[in-house]
Amino acid sequence: MVLELIARIIKVQLPAYLKKLPVPESLSGFIRLTVSDWLRLLPLLGILGLLGFLTVRPFMPTRKKQRDCLINLKIQKENPKVVNEIDIEDLNCTNVCYCRCWRSKTFPVCDKSHIKHNELTGDNVGPLILKKKIL
Ligand code: FES
Repeated sequence: MVLELIARIIKVQLPAYLKKLPVPESLSGFIRLTVSDWLRLLPLLGILGLLGFLTVRPFMPTRKKQRDCLINLKIQKENPKVVNEIDIEDLNCTNVCYCRCWRSKTFPVCDKSHIKHNELTGDNVGPLILKKKIL
């Protein structure tokens, strides 16, 4: 039943529709088309435009999924912005390493998680090392 309907549309109705279309035989013929001619051409032009778009779309650059763009995957996700403030005067050691890879379990202090991250991804991130001069 459905196949008969599709066959009828393709073999009878579509050719009849296409035969009645006012397709001009030259570019200047498009200028002479009336509004009603354009309205009759509209469905065909829409289908051709859609087919053209669907053909070209796989080759168009796509935006990466937002998840792929995230740097911070799990640290303080409840906050709209993660900010850490550290007073230099409060540094107890001569060297302190702060995480810049956002993978540290002791964030903002580096726990060397960047090493595993770099091995897995080929990235080259490392900590920010603050050195305190002892006078
Ligand atoms: Fe992130 Fe070391 S753990 S930079």
